Amino acid sequence: MLKLLNLLKDGRFHSGEALGAALGVSRSAVWKQLQHIESDLNLTIHKVRGRGYQLSTPLNLLDSAAIAEFALGDQWPVFIHESIDSTNAEGLRLAADGQAAPFLVLAERQSAGRGRRGRQWISPFAENLYYSLVLRVEGGMRQLEGLSLVVGLAVMRSLQAFGLKDVGLKWPNDVLVNGRKITGILLELVGDPADVCHVVLGIGINVNMLSSEQIDQQWTSMRGEVGRVIDRNHLVALLSQQLQHELARHRRYGFAAFQEEWEQAHLWQGQKVSLVAGTTRIDGIARGVDGQGGLRLEIDGVEKSFSGGELSLRLRNDS
Ligand code: BTN
Repeated sequence: MLKLLNLLKDGRFHSGEALGAALGVSRSAVWKQLQHIESDLNLTIHKVRGRGYQLSTPLNLLDSAAIAEFALGDQWPVFIHESIDSTNAEGLRLAADGQAAPFLVLAERQSAGRGRRGRQWISPFAENLYYSLVLRVEGGMRQLEGLSLVVGLAVMRSLQAFGLKDVGLKWPNDVLVNGRKITGILLELVGDPADVCHVVLGIGINVNMLSSEQIDQQWTSMRGEVGRVIDRNHLVALLSQQLQHELARHRRYGFAAFQEEWEQAHLWQGQKVSLVAGTTRIDGIARGVDGQGGLRLEIDGVEKSFSGGELSLRLRNDS
């Protein structure tokens, strides 16, 4: 199916005969694949007698050669999937099978994209970025402290490089534009974090998506913000470059080196917030982060730090 999509991605008309010849299959086999594209990938194909087939909008597919063209520094090996359950899950499987890290897993869509706190990450075909970077961590716990917050900073810088304004962070690792979520980050770990382990940095960025009925929170996308289609291969190259830079700094100096920078990007700094874990809620004022990336919350005049993957922060509206 990916081969056929690559032929159609320019958004021009292609005759059934030409498509069949390029793929080495019959016209009826082409027809079947076209039907799959429409039903499975939710894409619209115009069929015009005498002219052939045309995608309703051109597609910008992920392509390792195009990523390499945009890349400046070293490159990680990249595995691109047309469809996968979750790029994080695939990263963990590859690491367990002995694939040497670092490496990158990308997909055009995810059938079971994983979000934080057991939620699903909506992952339509070829619209957004589903990006998982797998790292081998040998330095013990210190190498993991504040790591997800550093990833948030790298994503924020990448979005700014594409011209997005008013990008900020919400502890621990949501990236928002004007209060609407544009990126989710999910770190998953296998092995012994005190010794040697693999960590997957899973990043989902809303790139060219303009509508979705499935998302149950306020969201936006890069295209929605800047009003033009974003080249996802360019975004992969730029994000990888930012991550390389920030991860090297983090390895060398630890999270303490990012503390101030992160607090400057924190959208709810100094605001009344609630920290929520399941049914428990703690009210306080967001004072920033500690040297390990934990949230510093002022509760009745006393400051306490909180950390943990199940925690989430809400803005408190006392009115
Ligand atoms: C969140 O809930 O905010 C985190 C969402 C993380 C989604 C990304 S998409 C790429 C990677 N693969 C997954 O299954 N999840 C992460």
